[in-house]
Amino acid sequence: MQEVKNKKIKKDIHLDAPFHVTGKTKYIDDLPELEGTLFAKVFDSSCAHGKLISVDTSKAEELEGVFAILTAKDVPGVNQIGGIIKDEPLLAETDVHFMGQPVALVLAESEEIAHEATALIHAEYEQLEVIVDPKEAYAKGSMLSNSRTFSLGSPDSAFAECAHVFEGKADSGGQEHLYLETQGAYAIPRDQGGILVESSTQGPTAVQRVVAAVLGLEMSKIEVNVNRIGGGFGGKEDQASLWAGLAALGCFVTGRPVKLILERHEDLRMTGKRHPYRSDYKIGLDKDLNIVAFEASFFQNGGGAADLSTAVLERTLFHGTNSYFVPNVRMTAHPCKTHIAPNTAFRGFGGPQGMFVMEAAIHHAARELGVSPWGIQKKNLLRDGNEFSYGQIVENSEANRCWDQAHGDFDFLKMVEEVEEYNHSQSLSKKGLAIMPICFGISFTNTPMNNARALVHVYGDGSVGVSTGAVEMGQGVNTKMVQVAALMFGLPYDRIRLETTNTSRVANTSPSAASATADLNGRALQDACRQILERLVPLAAELLGGADEKQISFSNEMVFLDGNPTELSWDDLVAKALLLRLNMSAKGHYSTPVIHFDKEKEKGHPFAYHVYGTSIFEVTVDCIRGTYDIDSVKIVHDFGSSMNKAVDLGQIEGGLVQGIGWMTLEDLQYDKQGRLRSHTLANYKIPDVYSIPEDIQVKFLNTDHDNLAILRSKAVGEPPLMYGIGAYFALTNAILAFNPNANIPYDAPMTTEKILMALYSA
Ligand code: MTE
Ligand code: HPA
Ligand code: MOS
Repeated sequence: MQEVKNKKIKKDIHLDAPFHVTGKTKYIDDLPELEGTLFAKVFDSSCAHGKLISVDTSKAEELEGVFAILTAKDVPGVNQIGGIIKDEPLLAETDVHFMGQPVALVLAESEEIAHEATALIHAEYEQLEVIVDPKEAYAKGSMLSNSRTFSLGSPDSAFAECAHVFEGKADSGGQEHLYLETQGAYAIPRDQGGILVESSTQGPTAVQRVVAAVLGLEMSKIEVNVNRIGGGFGGKEDQASLWAGLAALGCFVTGRPVKLILERHEDLRMTGKRHPYRSDYKIGLDKDLNIVAFEASFFQNGGGAADLSTAVLERTLFHGTNSYFVPNVRMTAHPCKTHIAPNTAFRGFGGPQGMFVMEAAIHHAARELGVSPWGIQKKNLLRDGNEFSYGQIVENSEANRCWDQAHGDFDFLKMVEEVEEYNHSQSLSKKGLAIMPICFGISFTNTPMNNARALVHVYGDGSVGVSTGAVEMGQGVNTKMVQVAALMFGLPYDRIRLETTNTSRVANTSPSAASATADLNGRALQDACRQILERLVPLAAELLGGADEKQISFSNEMVFLDGNPTELSWDDLVAKALLLRLNMSAKGHYSTPVIHFDKEKEKGHPFAYHVYGTSIFEVTVDCIRGTYDIDSVKIVHDFGSSMNKAVDLGQIEGGLVQGIGWMTLEDLQYDKQGRLRSHTLANYKIPDVYSIPEDIQVKFLNTDHDNLAILRSKAVGEPPLMYGIGAYFALTNAILAFNPNANIPYDAPMTTEKILMALYSA
């Protein structure tokens, strides 16, 4: 305790880092196995679409060490895990709708035996037509839900008056989450019929709801505990529930602890990914290059069940005009049902797919008109008072400030000159530039989800225990929660213990997602701390001889009066409070004010605020090989007033590189039978240390407007992913410097193969 007192507070650190790099951090698979634990393996469908005729488990059951094999008929509650639409069974019952869909669950004394047993199970299917393309699905009426349209102004008459109108197509591929920790859960029987589920999930309450439903129990019987997860990126917002549901089913039926951890290849094969999109656009500009009208149709490849597709679809519409003001808009999005694994949340949540189409349309217009894309981009950036297609009015737009600062700080004009010079002097290597501005709305687009709770205990020795609904997945939310509590109580970080995320301590949580976790849970935590302080302050004032309560504050583990330290320490004050039988625990709550959205009218004010930024990309393409380097990415990002620059910078760099991967390397391929061909890390490439841009510079645009962010520190989790779109267009521009007539369909990712073909196309 003594050494703690004099410790300097270093603000900009990720508190988990020392434990991660020394291998001490614990994940589910590190939990000690309880005696009697059974190991689960999933037998999954080898048919992408068909009737399930029969499942023969008899041979597998004979294998020594196999304890039980469960199928749909063993589900005691409802065999249904769909979160938004009830269209996904826990275990296939009458039909299958994607390869990798769970059909049976093997429970055995070891993982190896369970694995062996799955090979002895045989299922028969009656094959039905397989669709993997969303436009084909749409044409055939294979839909997950209804289409949605956002509109503003009068696009039809506006197009008629435009000086320039361009139409085209823009497709983007899916993306594998590739969290380091694969999906998994460990279900443990508790007395009196309860079950504890240790889950690698972003949504503990979603897991609790699904487990309760499939077991036919009330939610109160199920406790879900999350220590932390080894990455989620959206892949565990909803899709952790399936594996937790299966482990809990095994536990319920056998009365033994059941552990189910996916191997990497199983995870790649069986879980959904970012939605691939195919889109059509039409953009209209006036003679001064103002974007006057925009129209788009988005065909979302949803996969075999709805999962979060309808919510993702909505965010595509919200972000379909990126950071530009377009007065006349009509955008329609179609959630198409195909027969690949149900696609799901992935950093940006449909926003990136929408923004790619807008950027493609601008690029197309610029190419046809012989002007630079950045000329059009700059002209149309959002200004205060502009209206988004969904009715929210732009306030505190930082679009122009980010853009202007990026141009100034990084001397963009000089970059343009140097690239032109380079391209003049080199014939077999060309450079390309692109600017990618972003604007991302912060809040769950589904308004009711924007709330959180926190539980705080001040213990007798003055130390503090904090529980919130936030799940730590590497993004640093635990560090931010420690910071919030430390600031409220005037304590150093190491006197705050951040507890696991547990549904028995903090109930009815929204998933840790939408970049809003620190905002929502941080505000709830402040509320809880405030309640405790309201009980302590009068006592402190009394102990200080009847001082004015308004003069009391807390800092350096001491009570301050009028800004100066007193003799009264935090620990002594707490000890005294307990003798006086004061309540040193509190439950805080927060729900975002202001926001609302009317899904009938498709209008409202869905976002607490927006995050802005501008990135500048420079790339060099080897015009013989089609290979390339991303030379530099220079960013001015709107952090609000960052509460932790190390954590926030890490999010910018990670998001950026993940976005570059989506746009350039990660190429998900499905064959006509619905089989994922890019199913290993040998044939699915993600960014590695060599593909990270040599020069990444990030400037903090500090904006001190009042906003609804925690400590004015804006949400940072998802927005930087969309900077990655700049890589696509910088590569495109380098190709055009080599071959001005190149045929370049807007068809991400821009892989080396596609670059090579474009370089020599006509
Ligand atoms: N960063 C790390 N290291 N690991 C993750 O899984 N997920 C991203 C982002 N950054 C993720 C991450 C996604 S998809 C979201 S929505 C946010 O973090 C969630 O956390 P936040 O709300 O605290 O930003
Ligand atoms: N973003 C991320 N996750 C979500 C959202 C959202 O807007 N809505 C529901 N889940
Ligand atoms: Mo993030 S896609 O909202 O989990």
